[in-house]
Amino acid sequence: MIHNSMISCVGSTPMVRLNRCFPDPNLDVVAKLEMLNPGGSMKDRPARFIVEQGLHDGTLQPGMRLVESTSGNLGIALAMATSLHGLSFTAVVDPKTSSANLRLLELFGADVEMVTEPDEAGGYLHTRVRRARELVEATPDAVLVNQYANDLNWRAYFETAGQEILDVVDGPIDYLVAAVSTSGSIQGIARRLRQEHPGMKVVAVDAVGSVIFGAKAGPRQLPGFGASRVPEILDVNEIDEVVHVGDAESAAGCRRLLATEKIFAGGSSGAVVAGIEHLTSRLDHAARVVTVLPDRGERYLDLVYDDAWVAGLRDPWQEPEAVVSS
Ligand SMILES: Cc1ncc(COP(=O)(O)O)c(C=O)c1O
Repeated sequence: MIHNSMISCVGSTPMVRLNRCFPDPNLDVVAKLEMLNPGGSMKDRPARFIVEQGLHDGTLQPGMRLVESTSGNLGIALAMATSLHGLSFTAVVDPKTSSANLRLLELFGADVEMVTEPDEAGGYLHTRVRRARELVEATPDAVLVNQYANDLNWRAYFETAGQEILDVVDGPIDYLVAAVSTSGSIQGIARRLRQEHPGMKVVAVDAVGSVIFGAKAGPRQLPGFGASRVPEILDVNEIDEVVHVGDAESAAGCRRLLATEKIFAGGSSGAVVAGIEHLTSRLDHAARVVTVLPDRGERYLDLVYDDAWVAGLRDPWQEPEAVVSS
């Protein structure tokens, strides 16, 4: 088919079997290549869904402005989706936003608002959220996206990615393994897959240093993965296991994915590879694992693909082993 715009190219991403990365004949690991979305990440899905649902139900109209605290994939996706649908978008970012992402936000047409004051916790999260709310109050026809609390976030994946996986994966699905930040993707996909596979186990891969599942806050360097707050949309009762993966292990996972499968993916995809390794090394039965690779590697050339960056991380032998909790 011929698409009318890049926004209609979002979704319908391919799935690939990772049997070079996971050669165990008892394992069938199938990955959804979300990095092949036009904006470069799976966040194109909630961005498209939020804009198109809003236009459909009348809560959004052309000319209105969306505002969100985001310095990464969702920002780039919202810049694309709003602009193609005749809306505008303000991304509230902070000094830790990478220069590549700042440039991408601008190039895709976002208005960028930089906060500079650290918050009470020493980071920028709360300052950014406050600034986004102030902007919405001060701007006529502006709407806050609020991805951590917005049900349209998980519903985007329920309606699209979850269904697409069911369309191509025949037979049982034993595990869904996915990286988390807002939890929108894992929850939306899990809810749809569980309608057909009620016994499926859901394994969340979180960053060491992220507080989503009640672990201690700590430094972490990979963008897009983990969070410094608990998402309102998260229902922990729907998650069977959590695996915490550190930056060094994520980098090793990325490099393994590239070396074995020639998949050039972002940091959270490497974390997912590490998470699947931890999970499946404990299994004593055959299993099919469905996973999601959220974004591409280019935005991580200075991170997981930079030898000096990896060498500067704590000695991986001293880094705490991935912590697995049920
Ligand atoms: C690269 C990457 N991986 C994983 C995630 C986590 O996805 P979710 O917010 O749906 O939990 C994100 C979200 O921004 C991301 O950008």
